[in-house]
Amino acid sequence: MAIWPAIGESGLRYTVEILMAPKTFAQYEQEGWQRNAATYDAIDLPTTCQAVTPILNSLGSLQDLPILELASGTGYLAAQAVTQGATITGIDISPKMVEIAQQRVPVGATFLLGDASDLPFEAEQFDAVVCSFGFPHFADPQKALQEIARVLKPDGVLTFSIWPEPEPDNSFFGLIQKVCQTYADLEVGLPPAPPSSALADPAIRDPMITQAGFKDIHTQTLNLRWPLQGPETMVEFIVKGSVRTRMLYERQTPAVQAKIRAGLVEETMAYIRNGKKSIPCPGMLVIGSKAVVRMD
Ligand SMILES: C[S@@+](CC[C@H](N)C(=O)[O-])C[C@H]1O[C@@H](n2cnc3c(N)ncnc32)[C@H](O)[C@@H]1O
Repeated sequence: MAIWPAIGESGLRYTVEILMAPKTFAQYEQEGWQRNAATYDAIDLPTTCQAVTPILNSLGSLQDLPILELASGTGYLAAQAVTQGATITGIDISPKMVEIAQQRVPVGATFLLGDASDLPFEAEQFDAVVCSFGFPHFADPQKALQEIARVLKPDGVLTFSIWPEPEPDNSFFGLIQKVCQTYADLEVGLPPAPPSSALADPAIRDPMITQAGFKDIHTQTLNLRWPLQGPETMVEFIVKGSVRTRMLYERQTPAVQAKIRAGLVEETMAYIRNGKKSIPCPGMLVIGSKAVVRMD
């Protein structure tokens, strides 16, 4: 075939390198949420939506408030904010998420495709920035915090929700982690990524947020619960509602995958047999405001 000799040996090596280049965490995240977008409202939203009222309440009156929402997903939070009089701009890395959000909130909100660590806005545009369970998915959370500080007006408020490090028993993510640690091969070449609960640890979070330009940081526990849809609830979450855990799951052999699925069903059944309709899934709210640098 003429095409390969025309590229030349070094061109061919470059082409092969590009094809072989390992994907970054950010690429996996983008592709993962594209895959999850259509099922997000059925699998993840029934839990994440429970954080919306506390997030919005942290901002006070929303009437005429210009809010930026990072990782806006399918637009549920934006819909509530618009109902309360806010003007909201959502930004998300997944085109499918952006499309669904636009359909959910056709008036009063604008949704843009973009990366939280490279915001397409002038400085000091927004009174408030919110982010509901987006930070665990950012490849560069420090850069995202710096960008938030840049686009917030002085004294503007930042509120975000995250998942704390899960307890091994009696929490949705803790049980998943326990089953994966029991059966999965953890050395399967996952892309380097920040720990998903890093911002829940005050020793990491507080210096990081302060350095980015925030003050008056405080946290609040969110007593969320993951509704049980049946014995396969946790399995469904892994294969249709997660990105990081699915990366681990999909790299296992079929035999190990079967053991993980059986382990998750067993843990879920323990709740169902006890007549439970949901599993505790604690979240955390982090609230701060932009520090004003006085030049006098
Ligand atoms: C767990 S979902 C949260 C969605 C919604 N905020 C909620 O609480 O239901 C994570 C979202 O983060 C988005 N995301 C991941 N990385 C991102 C990035 N670097 N910049 C902007 N959005 C990102 C995903 O596309 C996805 O919509």
